[in-house]
Amino acid sequence: MTGFPDVRPRRLRQSAAMRRLVAETTLEPRQLILPMFIREGAREPIAISSMPGVYQHTRDTARKAVAEAAQLGLGGVMLFGVPEEKDEVGSGALDPDGILNVAIRDAVSEAGDSLLVMSDLCLDEFTSHGHCGVLDSEGRVDNDATLKIYAEMGVAQASAGAHIVGPSGMMDGQVGVVRRALDAANFQDTVILAYAVKYASSFFGPFREAVGSSLQGDRKTYQQDGANARDAIREVDLDIAEGADIVMVKPALAYLDIIRQVRDHVNVPVAAYNISGEYAMVEAAAANGWIHRENAILETLMSIRRAGADQILTYWAAEAVDLLGRR
Ligand code: PBG
Repeated sequence: MTGFPDVRPRRLRQSAAMRRLVAETTLEPRQLILPMFIREGAREPIAISSMPGVYQHTRDTARKAVAEAAQLGLGGVMLFGVPEEKDEVGSGALDPDGILNVAIRDAVSEAGDSLLVMSDLCLDEFTSHGHCGVLDSEGRVDNDATLKIYAEMGVAQASAGAHIVGPSGMMDGQVGVVRRALDAANFQDTVILAYAVKYASSFFGPFREAVGSSLQGDRKTYQQDGANARDAIREVDLDIAEGADIVMVKPALAYLDIIRQVRDHVNVPVAAYNISGEYAMVEAAAANGWIHRENAILETLMSIRRAGADQILTYWAAEAVDLLGRR
């Protein structure tokens, strides 16, 4: 029995240097994208209570965060606007002086080509009812009427300088109409990061506060049912056929199996969104002293990369770079 066990997997775990040598999955700054909220008219950054450490930025503090993101070597920033006024059709989304379009211009002028500026292409931040599209006379979300607005919104964002637009409203045909509208307006180089797979999720909860959403009810008639995985494959196939350059799966943690299936199915980059509720869970548990915050952050991000995501949108993007540097 001398020598038993013959095979000792622990040998490759014995020191930090050995573990580094054999690590299969990497986590790098360029893979991380920082989502940011910019609030129209704000004079001071406003704390989001359900997302400790995340703020609704003023235009000024947003510029500073963009400069920092560029300096850290992040993959990009994903911008969300929080308008002062909302209406039935989300007019603020099309207005060149609307907060999101203004924030895009600010970010591009701040970062130049050193950082990719991405924008959320959806109406929910801009509508008084909080839905991702406009409503018909019965109060249902009107797919095709919404598409017309998305097409214009895509051009407005590209005109403001967005390198990448992210259609996220889960309307059928949204990628196709945005691609055609961009091409017709000579924005052939504007990339579409499609929120191709988006499940109706309770983990979006804190985001509602982050954008001051007035949504009553849910989004189950347009976002996907958590019981269905094949539906995710159908959605990514459609989005790629319509011209998506990158596809995203969202949320991440309760859908790691979907990230893996999508990664194995497509030949375009796959992003995943580590969403507000996933952030809030870790922050809340850590604040109670129940888990080690920094380790939980890196473990979370690593799990999403291991599942197959090439890029991760995460509210921890900037901090994660710091944590990686100290590891
Ligand atoms: C739609 C959009 C949402 C999120 C990103 N884009 C809200 C939703 O679909 O309900 C959620 C992001 C998060 O929860 O962190 N504009």
